[in-house]
Amino acid sequence: MTYQRFFFMFALPGLVLSDPSHSNQVVLLDTTAVLGELSWKTYPINGWDAITEMDEHNRPIHTFQVCHVMEPNQNNWLRTNWIPRQAAQKIYVELRFTLRDCNSIPWVSGTCKETFNLHYFEIDEPHGANAHFNPNDYAKIDTIAADESFTQTDLGDRVLRLNTEVREVGPIARKGFYLAFQDVGACIALVSVRVYYKKCPSTLRNLAAFPDTVPRVDSSSLVEVRGACVENAEERDTPRLYCGADGDWLVPLGRCVCSIGYEESDSLCIACRPGFYKAFAGNIKCSKCPPHSSSHTEGSSQCHCERSYYRASKDPPTMACTRLPSSPRNLVFNINETALFLEWTPPSDTGGRKDVTYDVFCFRCGADGQACEPCNSNVRFIPKSTGLTSTSVVVQDFVAHANYTFQIEALNGVSGLGRSERQLANITVSTEQAGPSLVGVVRKDWASQTSIALSWQETEQPHAAILDYEIKYYEKEQEQLSYSSTRTKSPSVIVTGLNPSTVYVFHVRARTLAGYSSYSPKFEFATGDENSEEAADQGQVLVIVTATVGGFSLLIILTLFLLISGRCQWYIKSKIKSEDKKGTQYQNGHVPFPGSKTYIDPDTYEDPSQAVHEFAKEIDPSRIQIERVIGAGEFGEVCSGQLRIPGKKEIPVAIKTLKGGYTERQRRDFLREASIMGQFDNPNIIRLQGVVTKSRPVMIVVEYMENGSLDSFLRKHDGHFTVIQLVGMLRGIASGMMYLSDIGYVHRDLAARNILVDDNLVCKVSDFGLSRVLEDDPEAAYTTTGGKIPIRWTAPEAIAYRKFSSASDAWSYGIVMWEVMSYGERPYWEMSNQDVILSIEEGYRLPAPMGCPVALHQLMLLCWQKERSRRPQFNDVVSFLDKLIRNPSSLLTLVEDVNSFPVTPEDMPDYPLFISIGDWLDSLKMSQYKNNFIAAGYTTLDSISTMSIDDVRRIGVSLIGHQRRIVSSIQALRLQFLHVQQSGFHENWTIYPEEPQ
Ligand code: ADE
Repeated sequence: MTYQRFFFMFALPGLVLSDPSHSNQVVLLDTTAVLGELSWKTYPINGWDAITEMDEHNRPIHTFQVCHVMEPNQNNWLRTNWIPRQAAQKIYVELRFTLRDCNSIPWVSGTCKETFNLHYFEIDEPHGANAHFNPNDYAKIDTIAADESFTQTDLGDRVLRLNTEVREVGPIARKGFYLAFQDVGACIALVSVRVYYKKCPSTLRNLAAFPDTVPRVDSSSLVEVRGACVENAEERDTPRLYCGADGDWLVPLGRCVCSIGYEESDSLCIACRPGFYKAFAGNIKCSKCPPHSSSHTEGSSQCHCERSYYRASKDPPTMACTRLPSSPRNLVFNINETALFLEWTPPSDTGGRKDVTYDVFCFRCGADGQACEPCNSNVRFIPKSTGLTSTSVVVQDFVAHANYTFQIEALNGVSGLGRSERQLANITVSTEQAGPSLVGVVRKDWASQTSIALSWQETEQPHAAILDYEIKYYEKEQEQLSYSSTRTKSPSVIVTGLNPSTVYVFHVRARTLAGYSSYSPKFEFATGDENSEEAADQGQVLVIVTATVGGFSLLIILTLFLLISGRCQWYIKSKIKSEDKKGTQYQNGHVPFPGSKTYIDPDTYEDPSQAVHEFAKEIDPSRIQIERVIGAGEFGEVCSGQLRIPGKKEIPVAIKTLKGGYTERQRRDFLREASIMGQFDNPNIIRLQGVVTKSRPVMIVVEYMENGSLDSFLRKHDGHFTVIQLVGMLRGIASGMMYLSDIGYVHRDLAARNILVDDNLVCKVSDFGLSRVLEDDPEAAYTTTGGKIPIRWTAPEAIAYRKFSSASDAWSYGIVMWEVMSYGERPYWEMSNQDVILSIEEGYRLPAPMGCPVALHQLMLLCWQKERSRRPQFNDVVSFLDKLIRNPSSLLTLVEDVNSFPVTPEDMPDYPLFISIGDWLDSLKMSQYKNNFIAAGYTTLDSISTMSIDDVRRIGVSLIGHQRRIVSSIQALRLQFLHVQQSGFHENWTIYPEEPQ
């Protein structure tokens, strides 16, 4: 029996091939689903074997096997049929196979292999039946090795170890391709081949439908897809989704809303049921019809009013239908000689409305009370006859000894719609008691620009002696709006103070002991114009009046000025007081410099969204162009893109999104960062461009920093920068922190991971949000007091009793200095948080990283003083770093040079952490070099303490990062975690370089 035969016997039985369904995969080939022959080609013909068995459901299992392990120089090819590419740009090939371990086969060493090769060939159409196979057409995708090979024992146990390997191929441009499997002498059973491409499956989001979309081959860029609103929905902001490389939809933007008469249900818009309506497009539910209305069809935008009920044109559809008011009640009159008072009470039924008014209708009737006619226009109603809002009216200038009928109608907003249902109150009045007009014709004697002289005659036989006359007048143009009156004892008057070239209406009545007579008819007279002779003597008056008015105006202006300026002073003072009040919300007792800005904690706002709107600009989402996803935050994806501001150049931005399904608290916490960032204005603090809060997703838009976060940037560019460049970065961070401490903001999570770097190496402080920052920070651990704190970066007093201050930020700044100078090394390496806390408590501090200038390490040590008041303030740090930059020779002395004296184990009395080379390397995650150390004779901690970087290189540590880590730790061992309390230089600022003269 050949090995091939032997292998076959065990390859097939018992195999269970799962068939996972992947909604974002489009399968181009799946051998487990092919029911007929596969008809793949083999070259040479006796290389690979096709074996088809039937499973318990009588479905074929296609397997290809090869096992020419005894013969050298194998080159056996198995080629699939032509596979159409369809819409794929990048394809995935999933292989399941078993592979036999060569060690398990005797006498095959040298000929037996444990890998095979996967190839492909792109071509627009399938080869003809007789086409010659040419391996040179094929490009290699990869060599496939088994994760699990099986042995003779496994065969005996009938255990099959199935390997699954997936390879990506792309971009594919031709219409199709072949795959080929090249065996070079292994024992393989290829159990299934699945070829697929990924797509973002069609979906409904925000009431918009998005089609199946194939992602870009370049996995870092997203495909923007516009959605189409579902039926009965309309677009608000253009709905968009981004299709990511793995076939996942990301970042929904814009939305559709259900149209009038439709509401959302399960991502669709369904019609309102009868009895319900929806009058506006939007994501609101259908509402029940308001009182006295109903809808009988589905999808109603309005409900129709019941009989005798109406909706006025200005009534909102949400309002109940209303009807006409009933008639006014209790209509009464009261008459004296010249005036008739009508009074009533409101209707018992206002029709369900509040806009009730009244109209008065007047009819003069014959003696028998019959044959009524509308009153003539002489009869006047005060204040008016229509649209009365009060329940009384005065009637004047009616004829004495006559019969009148008055009708009062109550009206409301729907009275015009139901005329037939009007109800009026009537009253009949006889004017027997009213007095006659005692004044006949009124004449104009003369007129000037501002005066008119009038005279009149009494009618004969007045009933009683006339006491005086009342002359009532008004501008004809402004009839009834306002009037003036004057009195005279004689039957003439000069009415003054009139406007030039204006027609006035006059009427006169007499007063007797019995009261007033009725008014004379109306007479119209005009004042003169400028050219009229009568006006000549008025010039002087005009001058006097103008002078008087001018002087008076000046007086008024002066008075107003004094008043306003006094008031302004009061306003300014009170404003200062109120600003003072705001200012008292200083963080941590911070008192700002006079005139400096003060940070306001957004949590002091009763309504946190008010803080967002006060400090952050709302951005129209259509101005944001999302380009790619650059990370994932606690609240959602972080994307990069462009912000288009009209009239300005596009700005590259980073966009933090709040993923759907958030709680109100999450939204508040998310936006808190914007409320904080929006208060900052400094070149070393990440700049907020604005927020999107009025549409989904909620976003925070900030300036884009090309080099991402500082820790990973440094790790990626280990050893690439000059010391001056590193100090420049530290200077930027210190300057940002100086700004924050000046305005009273305490960061609490200052660490290299929270610094962003732009393409000019400018470092900016980011990640604001108080407690939230710490929730989000994977470094933050819970302390015994329950707080979540990034232990390695945090000052002891902040860990112990949460005393966070600018001084605790200074401690963190020292750690950031250390991270920068060690190119992103982890502070305290792999020590546990507990050991870090204990070591700090015992007075130990991080040693200088390799290549670190003494001056910088000393600054770090100052930042790490236990007594927080002794730590430098950020302005000290900035000026110190400025001096170093201006005097680069001060950076030439490295810590290695200073500490080149040998340190013996006796000098390290109680080094607590490691007992053997193995332990030490384990703690550094460098155990792979244990043999190198031992082989080179470094078997004790004592012996390594004198090693230099060259020694480390010589024993075979070739990676610069590893050399760095090991040498730093050797320094740590030698220096015994330098004891700050004993160093005594914390107050000795003279060690710092002087500025060059
Ligand atoms: N990651 C988070 N914020 C960023 C920013 N502003 N620029 C670049 N990458 C970021």
